[in-house]
Amino acid sequence: MKMILYILLAAIVIGLISGGMHLWKVAKKNEKEMAPYAEMKLQPLDTTKKILVVYYSLSGNTKDIAERIKAATKADLYAITLKDPLPTGFMAYYKIWKQKQENKLPELSGKMPDFSHYDLIILGSPVWMYTVSTPMQSFLKQADFKQKPVAVYSTQGSNPGTFFADIKKEAKNADIISEIEFNNLPKKYDQALNNKVIQWLSQTLLKVK
Ligand SMILES: Cc1cc2nc3c(=O)[nH]c(=O)nc-3n(C[C@H](O)[C@H](O)[C@H](O)COP(=O)(O)O)c2cc1C
Repeated sequence: MKMILYILLAAIVIGLISGGMHLWKVAKKNEKEMAPYAEMKLQPLDTTKKILVVYYSLSGNTKDIAERIKAATKADLYAITLKDPLPTGFMAYYKIWKQKQENKLPELSGKMPDFSHYDLIILGSPVWMYTVSTPMQSFLKQADFKQKPVAVYSTQGSNPGTFFADIKKEAKNADIISEIEFNNLPKKYDQALNNKVIQWLSQTLLKVK
């Protein structure tokens, strides 16, 4: 009995140490990546291109990036919504895990957007279990991009896994011209994050005819 308790305790301590080390490494990596953006003073872009951001967001991070894109380019936003919205917190993990086990994608609510009005479509999704979130997968099942330029962004804790390779396979007839990852960041990176968004958009827009 005592032995089992010691093993359990050791497992908890090892788990806490390796979790802490992982978080520390991610924080250091974010610091290094965001440092050059902190120096920039980028302004919203003066573009005549019509942009639509299609995004799904459960806890607000992907929506936050969509809103920054809107502020920088006057893009229209389209939020993917579900017939049976997911809970937040731990229950979300359980429901999403169950969807995966049952190989089921969630049903969408709302009308599909009309892409024909736009010069560029931007797709934004959280990374779930190293791939594209299931609501975005449901959206992609119904969408046909008809060779339009498409840019893709992910938001994640730290590891996008096969997100970009998977979205390329799932986005029918999309001409994917650009992609970018956004790790979840503390508030102190707010301005740097804005600069990262604007720099990405200006490079992306150069590729839109
Ligand atoms: C079910 C679930 C699975 C997740 N899987 C990953 C993952 O594989 N890699 C990662 O870095 N972050 C993962 N995350 C963290 C989210 O990708 C991250 O917090 C994202 O910014 C959430 O976006 P949202 O606030 O727009 O919903 C996961 C979150 C959830 C809820």
